[in-house]
Amino acid sequence: MTIPAAVVRDRVLSLPSGELPAYVYDLAALREHAANVRAALPARVEVHYAAKANPEPEILAALGPYVDGYEVASGGELAHVAKAVPGRPLAFGGPGKTPAEITAALELGVERFHVESEYELHMLAELARQVGPDSRVAVLLRFNLPVASGSLAASSLAMGGRPTPFGLDPSEADTVVRLLTDGTYPHLELRGVHAHLASGLRAPEQLAVAESIVRWAVGLVERHDGVRLAEVNVGGGMTVDYAAPEDRFDWVAYGEGLAELVSRYPDLTLRIEPGRALTAYCGWYATEVLDVRQSHGEEFAVVRGGTHHMRTPATKGHDQPCTVLAVEDWPHPWPRPVARRELVTLTGQLCTPKDVLARNVPTPGLKAGDRVAFALAGAYAWNISHHDFLMHPRPGFHFLDEVDTESVAGEKERGQGFAH
Ligand SMILES: Cc1ncc(COP(=O)(O)O)c(C=O)c1O
Repeated sequence: MTIPAAVVRDRVLSLPSGELPAYVYDLAALREHAANVRAALPARVEVHYAAKANPEPEILAALGPYVDGYEVASGGELAHVAKAVPGRPLAFGGPGKTPAEITAALELGVERFHVESEYELHMLAELARQVGPDSRVAVLLRFNLPVASGSLAASSLAMGGRPTPFGLDPSEADTVVRLLTDGTYPHLELRGVHAHLASGLRAPEQLAVAESIVRWAVGLVERHDGVRLAEVNVGGGMTVDYAAPEDRFDWVAYGEGLAELVSRYPDLTLRIEPGRALTAYCGWYATEVLDVRQSHGEEFAVVRGGTHHMRTPATKGHDQPCTVLAVEDWPHPWPRPVARRELVTLTGQLCTPKDVLARNVPTPGLKAGDRVAFALAGAYAWNISHHDFLMHPRPGFHFLDEVDTESVAGEKERGQGFAH
C-alpha cells in the first residue's frame, strides 16, 4: 500500500460520492520533489520536462522554477505549453512533424528542434528560411543509437537500440552533419545530438546509456573538421517502479555520475528530458468502491471510474499501487457489500475484462462505499486514457497547494465534466 499525505487523504474523504472519481494532485509534493531533483544535478545539466507525461497547466507551472524548459512532441503540445508557461524555452521533438507544426514552432520561436530524419531536415531548412530569413534555428539531431548488448534489457519501453521509427539511423549521421555544416542550410545551426533510447531505467543503466550517447556524439563530430559539439540531450526514461513505489530513481547517484561525465567534456552542456519520474508521484486517482462480488473463487471490487480515466495499469500491465480509506457511513437502506477474502481485485466500470486497476490487493474487510486512492497517477494517466469509452462522467481535478490546504478558497479546482 502507498499512503497519501494527510492533505490528499482529507480531500479524498471529504469529496461527496457524486464528485468521484477525481484526480488529486499534491503540488507542494511535486515542488519538493522537483527541487530535490534539480539540487541533485550538476549545473551543466539542463532539465527539460517532457510535457507528454502530464501537460496539466498547473503541473507545468509548478515545475517552472526547477526546469530549464519543456520538451513538446506535437503541435498541440506546443500551443498548449507555450500558453501555459509563456516565455519558457521549448524543445520540439516527435517522430512525425507536419509542415504546419514546424511553421507554428518557428513562429513561436522554439529554441531547439529535435530533427528525426533527413527529410525533416530538408523541410525544416526551407521553412526556417521562409519564416525567419535573418535568423538561425538551433538543431539537435536525434539518433537511434546502437547500445551495448543487453544495456536496455531492464527498460520497460525501448525506443532505440533496435529498429524503430524514432530518430535518424547512425548510418545517416555523416550526411546530415555535412548538410548542416557545409553551408547547404544557412538557416540551421547544428548544436548537437539527441537520443532518447528507453524508458524505465535505473540510475546506473541511465548513466551507462548517457555515457555511450556522449561518446558516440563526440566521435561523430571528430570526423568533421571544425564542427563543434555544444550540447547532448540524453533523453528521459528515469524509472518509476510501480511495484515498489518507495524505491525511487536515485537522482543523487545519477547527478554524481553526470557530474563526472561532464567534467570530461568541459565545453559540453548535457540535457535530460524526464517526464514520468518527475510527476508520477504527485498524482492520485481517487474513487470509491461501488460493489464487492465473488467470481469463481476470487473476489472483485468494482470502483467508480476505471482504466478509461487511468489507463496506466492496463498499458503497462502492472497493478496500480493504492491505499484504501475506510468509510464508516453507509447511507443506503439496502445491505452493504463487504469483502470476505483477504485479497480483492479492484476493477472499473467498463465492460471489458481489461478494466483492472490492481489485482489481489490485501484489503480484508473492504466495503462498498470505502474510498480507494491510487498512487503514482501523476504521469501517463489521465492524458493517455480513452475517456469516451462507455460515456461515463469525467473525473474531477483538484490541485492542492501548500498555501491553500486549510481552505477551499483560492484552491484551483475543476468540476466533473471539465472538457480537456
Ligand atoms: C523523446 C522523448 N523524451 C522524453 C520522454 C520522457 O520519457 P519518461 O517519461 O519515461 O521520462 C519520452 C517518452 O516517451 C520521449 O519519447
